[in-house]
Amino acid sequence: MQININNLSFAYGAKTIISNLSLTLNSGDYLVIRGKNGSGKSTFIKCLLGFNQVKAGMIFYDKVDITAFKSWTRFGYVSQSFDDFNYEFPITVGELLQISSLKKTNESDRLKLLEKMGIFDIINQNINSLSGGQLQRVFIVRAMLNNPEVLILDEPTASIDKQNKIFFYNTIEELHQAGLTIVLITHNDDIEELNYTHLLSMYGDLTTSFEERGVEVKEGVL
Ligand SMILES: Nc1ncnc2c1ncn2[C@@H]1O[C@H](COP(=O)(O)OP(=O)(O)O)[C@@H](O)[C@H]1O
Ligand SMILES: [Mg+2]
Repeated sequence: MQININNLSFAYGAKTIISNLSLTLNSGDYLVIRGKNGSGKSTFIKCLLGFNQVKAGMIFYDKVDITAFKSWTRFGYVSQSFDDFNYEFPITVGELLQISSLKKTNESDRLKLLEKMGIFDIINQNINSLSGGQLQRVFIVRAMLNNPEVLILDEPTASIDKQNKIFFYNTIEELHQAGLTIVLITHNDDIEELNYTHLLSMYGDLTTSFEERGVEVKEGVL
């Protein structure tokens, strides 16, 4: 899996948010995107996921232009705010996960994921009764159900307390070690403890920097 971003620019109406951003991400990379509120982090992710439409030639997945791309189940995504979700209809955590499985995941895989995220004991609870942190973890499990190649998390620790944050980052690290490509967005500066491989900084004035951590020269680059 390779993601190529090629001079990406994006505007909401007349307001430009992203200007000439280029980067490449390969399987197994762990990208942290940081920048203060309003710097365009979520906007960038929405471009990557096709919610914000970009012009042909700007984003490629394995050389397929995003405007022709169809395999969205290759991405697991947990959005920053859950306002888009409507749970007027009462449903349990277990039921929600069951109907969210597009690929055949068996019951025990689902349970393992729940356990890993520390929400095993709320499987029979009504989704509307959960705290923000619990809901977030349920959505992470849901994002993992279809066995994605890339997991994208937009400010996942915003409503999680400090102790759960450490547990959460460890779980993400385990998934990364298992070969999953991670894109994690944060507006905090406490990123040094994360084992990321690439860092995209968005400065909020249309400038960005993209760097590889440790600057290991990869095979095939020279
Ligand atoms: N749907 C939208 N329409 C118009 N402007 C938007 C929309 N979404 C975000 N913005 C604006 O784009 C800028 C970047 O927002 P966002 O990508 O959410 O930043 P971040 O995720 O870094 O906090 C902000 O000024 C925000 O107000
Ligand atoms: Mg955001």
